[in-house]
Amino acid sequence: MQVGTTTEAVASITADAVVVGCYADGTLPSSATELDVATGSVLSRLVEAKEISGKSGELTTLLAPSGVAAKQVVVVGLGDKEKFDCGSALRAAATAAKQLAAKQRDRVAFYLADGWSDDEVEAAVCGAIVGGQGQDLYRAEKKLFPFTELLWAGSDGDTVAAGQTFAEGVNLTRRLVNEPPSVIYPESFAKTAADVAVACGLEVEVWDEQKLKAERCGSLLGVARASDRPPRLVILKHQGGNAGEPPLALVGKGVTFDSGGLSLKPSDSMKTMKCDMAGAATVLGAMQTIAKLQLPVNVIGLVGLVENMVSGDSYKLGDVLTARSGKTIEVLNTDAEGRLVLADVLDVAVDQGAGKIIDLATLTGACVVALGLDVAGLMTNDQAWCDVVASAAAARGERAWQLPMFEEFGEQIQSKVADLKNIGEGRWGGAITAAKLLEEFVQGKPWVHIDIAGPAFLESAKPWLDAGGSGAFVRTLVEVAKRASKP
Ligand code: BES
Ligand code: MN
Ligand code: ZN
Repeated sequence: MQVGTTTEAVASITADAVVVGCYADGTLPSSATELDVATGSVLSRLVEAKEISGKSGELTTLLAPSGVAAKQVVVVGLGDKEKFDCGSALRAAATAAKQLAAKQRDRVAFYLADGWSDDEVEAAVCGAIVGGQGQDLYRAEKKLFPFTELLWAGSDGDTVAAGQTFAEGVNLTRRLVNEPPSVIYPESFAKTAADVAVACGLEVEVWDEQKLKAERCGSLLGVARASDRPPRLVILKHQGGNAGEPPLALVGKGVTFDSGGLSLKPSDSMKTMKCDMAGAATVLGAMQTIAKLQLPVNVIGLVGLVENMVSGDSYKLGDVLTARSGKTIEVLNTDAEGRLVLADVLDVAVDQGAGKIIDLATLTGACVVALGLDVAGLMTNDQAWCDVVASAAAARGERAWQLPMFEEFGEQIQSKVADLKNIGEGRWGGAITAAKLLEEFVQGKPWVHIDIAGPAFLESAKPWLDAGGSGAFVRTLVEVAKRASKP
C-alpha cells in the first residue's frame, strides 16, 4: 500500500472514497463542513434528522453525491468530543477502512484530522491501514482488500509516515499470530525475526538448541523436549541511545503451539493455541517499529520460542527442571509452560544488562476470567515502572489493568521437593501465581508483566478489526520506548 498526504480540497479530490468524521454532539469537523457546503447541506440535514448521530463507530455512506469528485463519502462517528483519544482515533479510521476494504479500492482519502495531536493522527493512520488487513491469509476469495493508495489530509508527512510504521509493526504481529502453527514454529519464527532485523537495522543473535543447552536453559528446554521442532531464543538489539545506557528489555512468550503437553488441553481450548506466541510477535512488531522510528534509546527484545507438544519424551508431572538461574522448578502441570519458558528468557535479559524489563505473554486463562477479553493484566515488582507502562497504554488507548502481587500469592508456588512449583494451589488467582513465578527470575530489576491472553487474539471480528491476531500492545511498547528516551 502506498501511503501519503494530500492538501487537495475534500470535495475536489479524485478518489474511490473520502472519509470524514462527525462527533457525537453532531459537530462536523472542518472537512465535513466543506463537504456539507459542496453537497448543498446533505450532511447537516442528515445530522438534523438524527440519521447521522456521530456515535462512535457509526458509518454513513453517501454514494456518488453531487458536488463531490470522489465516488463516495463515508461519514464515521467519532464519539464524544470530550472523550476523544488515540483509541477513538484508531477505531474510527479503522472502522471506515474495514468497511471500504470489503471491495477493491485504488485510492481512499481520509479527511479526519481536526486539530488532532500527532499521536492521535498516528493512531488514526495506523487504524486506516490495520483495519483493511484481514486474517484470510489462505482464502482464495479475500474478504478484505487493502487499498492501493491511502491519502491523509490535514497533517504533515512525518506524522503520517510514523502512523504507517506503527501499522506495519502491528500488521507484522498480526500476521505472525495468524499464520498456522505448521508455518510459524520456533525455527521459522527465528528466521522471520532475523529477516526483520536485517531489513530494519537491528542486531540479531539466534540461540539454537545446542547453545540453549550450553547456557543451561533447562526450564525452557524441558518444555521444548517433546516437540520435533527444536527451540530457539532470539535476541534483538536496537542501539539508539548512549553506549553505556542499560537497555529496556522487551521479553516475549513464543509458544508457537500450546497443546498443553501431557496435561493435554481439550480440543476446544486448543484450537486457537497458534496464538500462544503472541507475546513474542508483539515484541518483534514493537522492535521493528522502534528501529524504523530510530528512537534514541537502547532496547533489546528477547523471545523464547518452543512448541509445547506430546511425545514419549515429554516432560512429566513431577519432573524437576533446573532453570538457567539455578533455581529448581517442580512441574505439576505441563500446560503451565509459558512461565517455564519465560523463567529462562528473563534470566538471559538480566544477563544482557537490562535496566528495566517488560514481558508480554498469553500466559493464563485466569487473566481472561479476571479482566475479560479486551483488557490485559499488569503485574509488577516496581510500582513506579508499572505506572509508566500503564500510562503509556492509556495514552495510546490500549486497555490494561493492574492486579496485586501480595506476597501470599508467592507462598502458593513453594514446592515441597524443589525451590518452586509451576502452578499455585488450585485455580484461584491464577494470573498472579503465574506472575509470581516470573518475578523469581528478574533478580529484582524493575519489571512489568503484561498478560495479553485476552486481547492478543480476537475470536470474533470487531467493527474495526478482523478476528484473529490483534497486534495489541505493540503501540504501547513503542510509547514506553519513546518515554524511556526522554529523561
Ligand atoms: N497459553 C495458555 C493460556 C491461554 C489461555 C492463552 C487462553 C490464551 C487463551 C497457557 O499456557 C495455559 O495453558 N495456562 C493454563 C495454566 C494452568 C494450567 C495453571 C490455564 O490458563 O489454564
Ligand atoms: Mn499452556
Ligand atoms: Zn501457553
